[in-house]
Amino acid sequence: MPKHFVAMPAVVLAACLIWVPACAQADRNPVPGSVPTRLAEAQANPKLADTLLRTGRKVAAVCANCHGEGGNSVRPEVPNLAGQNTAYLVEQMRQFGDGLRRNEFMQGMIRAMSTDEKVGMALFYSQQTVRPGPGADASLLAQGEMLFQKICFRCHGNDGHGNEKIARIAGQQGAYLSATLRRYRTGSGDRVNEQMADNTRLLSDANLDAIVAYVASMK
Ligand code: HEC
Ligand code: HEC
Repeated sequence: MPKHFVAMPAVVLAACLIWVPACAQADRNPVPGSVPTRLAEAQANPKLADTLLRTGRKVAAVCANCHGEGGNSVRPEVPNLAGQNTAYLVEQMRQFGDGLRRNEFMQGMIRAMSTDEKVGMALFYSQQTVRPGPGADASLLAQGEMLFQKICFRCHGNDGHGNEKIARIAGQQGAYLSATLRRYRTGSGDRVNEQMADNTRLLSDANLDAIVAYVASMK
């Protein structure tokens, strides 16, 4: 387990305890087909979307222990989910579930969620508004912006909002961004992606710090 969890066992325990009834139900996953298929169904059917959104809001009460109310995290090492893109959220849940992305707690939690809970939570969080992080030293921000507009904008967009499938990174938590970019860069195994490895390999720690400061402050 990452070391920051050692400092908050009570929260982890509370989340697990609340989650137990849902865990027990999750095996009877009533919806056939994949999560992306169910997401597409909901996006084409406002009534279904509404039902799943309510499911998602209930699920989010558990997630709030770490990801904050409405997905605005108050722990710098835990990502905001507010404003995140639906298909990206669904894909990350698949990666945790399949063990491709490693975080012991998230892997266990995602495996216990039903298809409708996953789709519902993606719909819920994508509709929340993210609060951007604090500003930083002006010259650091300027250097970060320069690097962002040279490299990152190609996939994440000029505004850092990504698209349905590509992560929104604007306003993300600083410590989480910093750890994530370093994982991609070193290919530590906790999080592997070829495109992100290619686009961080040549960046120094100072480059990453500037990018993180800028991205965290983006609206
Ligand atoms: C005990 C704290 C904790 C709880 C409770 C928790 N999470 Fe997480 N979650 C994390 C951490 C830490 C990460 C970042 C893992 C990493 O570094 O890759 C994360 C990452 C995620 C991500 C990936 C986000 C991204 O930007 O890539 C998703 C999606 C997610 N969590 C969904 C949920 C949902 C849905 C719930 C509730 C059902 C939940 N989490 C409950 C701690 C938690
Ligand atoms: C060629 C396209 C591409 C470029 C260029 C790119 N990214 Fe990414 N980025 C991706 C993809 C695809 C993912 C999702 C990877 C995964 O599933 O783990 C991603 C994921 C991320 C994440 C994780 C988001 C989250 O919520 O956990 C961060 C942070 C990120 N990118 C930042 C950057 C930064 C900063 C740059 C510029 C230095 C950059 N990216 C350049 C394609 C790109």
